[in-house]
Amino acid sequence: MAYRFLSSRIVPSSNRLSRRIIFIFTISLCFMYLCYSILFCSGTIMPNQRLEDHRCVHLKNMGSKKLLQKSHYCTISAKARVISDETRAVGLLNQSKHSAFQKTQDVVDHKQSNNSNSPKYGNKKLPNALIVGVKKGGTRAVLEFIRIHPDVRALGTEPHFFDRNYDKGLDWYRGLMPRTLDSQITMEKTPSYFVTREAPRRISNMSRETKLIVVVRNPVTRAISDYTQTLSKKPDIPSFEELAFKNRSQGIVDTSWNAIRIGMYILHLENWLQYFRLSQIHFVSGERLITDPAGELGRVQDFLGLKRIITDKHFYFNRTKGFPCLKKPESSSQPRCLGKSKGRTHVQIDQEVIEQLREFYRPFNVKFYEMVGHDFRWD
Ligand code: A3P
Repeated sequence: MAYRFLSSRIVPSSNRLSRRIIFIFTISLCFMYLCYSILFCSGTIMPNQRLEDHRCVHLKNMGSKKLLQKSHYCTISAKARVISDETRAVGLLNQSKHSAFQKTQDVVDHKQSNNSNSPKYGNKKLPNALIVGVKKGGTRAVLEFIRIHPDVRALGTEPHFFDRNYDKGLDWYRGLMPRTLDSQITMEKTPSYFVTREAPRRISNMSRETKLIVVVRNPVTRAISDYTQTLSKKPDIPSFEELAFKNRSQGIVDTSWNAIRIGMYILHLENWLQYFRLSQIHFVSGERLITDPAGELGRVQDFLGLKRIITDKHFYFNRTKGFPCLKKPESSSQPRCLGKSKGRTHVQIDQEVIEQLREFYRPFNVKFYEMVGHDFRWD
């Protein structure tokens, strides 16, 4: 039809040869147009996709702040991005396609939040449980071990809210917390709370139902550990003996020295018991935490009302470190021990000094055992 139409309209009285030439020319034009269309269409999608991928690779190398602002596009999976690009290019963003895109994006976000340390799901909540002490008792180990539980999310750093930062207010404090689902427990640890006079009152003002964990350790070993840590930062401080005694020959201990004072557990505990029931406080043995981490973590899980998920399968004993380590910590699939500042070689202290300090702590320890109903066998 087209051939006849063209031949009658354009060249009404031409010969056969010229008709054929016009027909072939027309067909060629059509073919060229078709090729051009195919090349043009693919050209608008493919190079852009590659450009975005390239941009995303660059973003991985940016600082965390910029990354947060700019990386949203890159968080969408390639599949979702194609849907997004298609809808933009074609301009046919109908409702069903839009919701399909949203769904894909939600799934991607959820997957990523499960893998990341700061998930995007849930809400920031004030902690339900706190590791309040004691310094050098093994608080970092308890926090790192308990946070592998899927129902626990913990702040990695020490916020020092109830001692140093209280004037910043509860909203500031809440803002520091990781996001949690309703079923999850929010935790933080700041070991100095245990010896801060105002801390129990302030914590009970936040919530009288807060669960408290105290990791206790032989107060003499704890004092030496504390001193070893200070010495590693300030090598010029006086000797342990000089700091520990007001008068060594008379055996008068300097209870104003923090390294000594912290270990008088019963005195601090009495302050806490003005605001909290004993059943709200769980004591972890710092010694058993090293010899039987799974046993101690089992009791911590019971106390927090959690299913016993952390078991001896999660730990192995690292001979080089001399401590139990995690087979799979929260943030990685690689086995991991605590850092160098945990498990230091202690400063050598004269045995006689150790005996004097044992004598000093004995009555405090006995009272403490009676109060908590457990003999930690430090004597
Ligand atoms: P030392 O360095 O004196 O050995 P905290 O985290 O409260 O500061 O306590 C530090 C102490 O945790 C260490 O004191 C160490 O004895 C103890 N600890 C308990 N379990 C540990 C573990 N698995 N790895 C390293 N240190 C651990």
